[in-house]
Amino acid sequence: MTRNTDSSKDRVARAGAGLVRDGMIVGLGSGSTSVLMVRHLADRVASERLAIVGVATSSSTAALARELGIPLRELDEVDRLDISLDGADEIDERFRMIKGRGGALLREKIVAASSAHRVTLLTADKRVGRLGVGMPVPVEVSTFGLLHTERRIRAIGGETTIRRDDKGRVVLTDGGNAIIDCHFEALDDPDDLDERLQCQAGVLDTGLFIGLCDTLIVGDGEGIEVIESGVPRFPH
Ligand code: 5RP
Repeated sequence: MTRNTDSSKDRVARAGAGLVRDGMIVGLGSGSTSVLMVRHLADRVASERLAIVGVATSSSTAALARELGIPLRELDEVDRLDISLDGADEIDERFRMIKGRGGALLREKIVAASSAHRVTLLTADKRVGRLGVGMPVPVEVSTFGLLHTERRIRAIGGETTIRRDDKGRVVLTDGGNAIIDCHFEALDDPDDLDERLQCQAGVLDTGLFIGLCDTLIVGDGEGIEVIESGVPRFPH
């Protein structure tokens, strides 16, 4: 990563943390941008004595938030999420995203879907004309019948890779599931592809996040831009 991207990432993370208000219940995303955001948020909790509660999308985010003094609850221990802040791997002009390179997509999607206001934090290089050219679509699947689920996904037309560690073991998510990275030659219709993937037995969720970005904070070498997507928000 260039120094430019590094400082842009930090700027969007700081701006995201700046949207949190006293008393809010906050969804905390996963990945390197979210790590920076959690650090900025913890600074505000300490310096402004903000009384907030965080709901983490991964065990690593939970560990960091705990270490930095952000009080945490499980998602089902709260009745609402006021805001969630998370990174993304790619976003297109219609605010459709690919997420899940970090393997936390299922919990990230549940948290985003449960939030009144979904904020995406990313650097400008992740804005694309067409999703899926630069990276595969991660799909979280049950480990039961993994190879059969992979075969069904292939039948849709994608090349698939089961995510493994350097010893060749299947990588498990926090929920104990596997991830299949799916490369599609022409990802022209993400909504349709999402539907076709979602209805396969064994698929728990996809890394296609559609209608889950209300506010995009994007950073480049110059500064940040805050863009409202106009996607209708979850009514709370
Ligand atoms: C993890 C994710 C992350 O939000 C996404 O991979 C972006 O990560 P980073 O901020 O490190 O670029 O979806 O599952």
